[in-house]
Amino acid sequence: MPNTRKKAAIYGTVILLGLIIIQFWSPDIEKPPVTGKIKAPVAVIAILDKACSDCHSNEPKLNWYDKIAPASWLVASDIRQARSKFNLSTWNSLTVAEQQGLFWEMVNMAISGKMPLGAYVLLHHSAKLSSRDIDVLKKYVSSLSAFQPGDTAGTAAAERQFAAYRQNHPALSMVPTAADSVTYVPGFQKWQIISTTNRFDNLPSIRVVYGNGIAARAVADNHINPWPDGATIVKVVWDITEDKNGNIRPASFNNVQMMTKDNRRFPATKGWGFAKFEGTKLVPFGASASFNTTCYNCHRLASDYGYVFNVPPLTRDPKRGLFNTNGLGFITSFANRKQQTQSILYGNDPAREMALAGNNRHTPGEVFNLVTWKQTDNKYWYGSFINGSLQSVETLTIIPGLNGGSQITYRVLEGEAPKDSAGIVADRQARIDLILAQRPSVLP
Ligand code: HEC
Ligand code: HEC
Repeated sequence: MPNTRKKAAIYGTVILLGLIIIQFWSPDIEKPPVTGKIKAPVAVIAILDKACSDCHSNEPKLNWYDKIAPASWLVASDIRQARSKFNLSTWNSLTVAEQQGLFWEMVNMAISGKMPLGAYVLLHHSAKLSSRDIDVLKKYVSSLSAFQPGDTAGTAAAERQFAAYRQNHPALSMVPTAADSVTYVPGFQKWQIISTTNRFDNLPSIRVVYGNGIAARAVADNHINPWPDGATIVKVVWDITEDKNGNIRPASFNNVQMMTKDNRRFPATKGWGFAKFEGTKLVPFGASASFNTTCYNCHRLASDYGYVFNVPPLTRDPKRGLFNTNGLGFITSFANRKQQTQSILYGNDPAREMALAGNNRHTPGEVFNLVTWKQTDNKYWYGSFINGSLQSVETLTIIPGLNGGSQITYRVLEGEAPKDSAGIVADRQARIDLILAQRPSVLP
């Protein structure tokens, strides 16, 4: 017994001495000057101060136990990394657009519980965010959105882009490749559409997400965590306009983004290679391959969906609802803020040709399907809506009429007849006019 006690005493002393000695290597937390502190309402600053500033600012308020090695090594490393991502003490060095983008990401990191870091919250209880804190952050970040209903900025540019597209739509002369070697896929326009979304955050826009055969099968079978190798997802992004009735429509084509799953090529980003091609010239985004990590870091928010945000919600378990297009192609997508709906207009080639010409000279054989979903919040991103449950499928066909003319047939194929904003079943003619008034969105 005395022997054991002696041993314990020796071990204890050694550990204590060790702890004392390593204090000489305990890092000093640098506190560079505060040059341009973030400005926001008092309630917002209070939340950032208590939950984020210890790591993401030059004014950490550390407890005694944060300063003792080995804990202090972790603290110093966290602070170094956290400041390299963003620093609330030098916030003014960012452009307004960068500040807004970052704030949306910060709020989403906070909502998801990924920030502040869990290990830190264990020791710093007061840093834990309440649901009221989250509401304050959400409300503030929503107020930053530059987009105003009724905005017509960019309409003229969109008109010019559409006029050029209608005139002439040449095949790409060269297929672009991003710096991380992910190559654009011509022909994705024939793939299955997985979802449609519209964002009200710092990037107000409408998006349509396509999946190749492997990706579409993975969605239908709910095999998305992890996604199979070979899955490729393409997202097309358009700027938007919104009228006073809440109708959100695509304006200019903005960019195409891709994710392709290849565990061998992209081990550092859970197998995903990312790419973005901007403007109708499809200029690759990103100067070096490391942009891939920037994309991945934010996509970690959707880790439960295998790093993909825009997967339709689960429907009849275990299937996810992929709308069967019956071979029709995409014409355009639109949303309504008041009715909280998202729609895609599909059509066969003659229908698309007619819509592109925009002259209302119909020929028998045109088929249009207008699919409308109730919109729902994106599970992993506050700031984006995605199509939720299917509300209606309307079909319009042009059939031969008398004397060699043509005639329109219209019916509701699935779901309920759409209602107008007053909640009254919309007039049949109004729906026909709506469908025939749509013009195709500019696709790359
Ligand atoms: C204990 C230190 C710590 C605290 C407190 C903390 N963070 Fe972080 N944060 C980090 C570290 C370390 C990183 C970089 C590593 C990573 O991204 O996981 C980071 C990265 C981030 C990123 C960038 C992710 C990326 O790479 O794109 C955001 C956004 C973020 N934090 C937001 C917040 C917000 C908002 C708060 C407060 C609600 C907060 N953090 C509190 C340590 C912290
Ligand atoms: C600040 C966060 C953030 C960053 C950084 C980011 N994304 Fe995303 N991404 C999102 C969100 C949120 C969505 C889903 C919302 C939407 O697009 O409607 C999304 C969707 C996508 C999609 C459609 C598939 C999906 O996940 O829903 C692709 C493809 C994509 N992003 C590619 C990229 C590429 C390429 C980059 C880097 C150049 C990138 N993303 C960087 C947040 C981010």
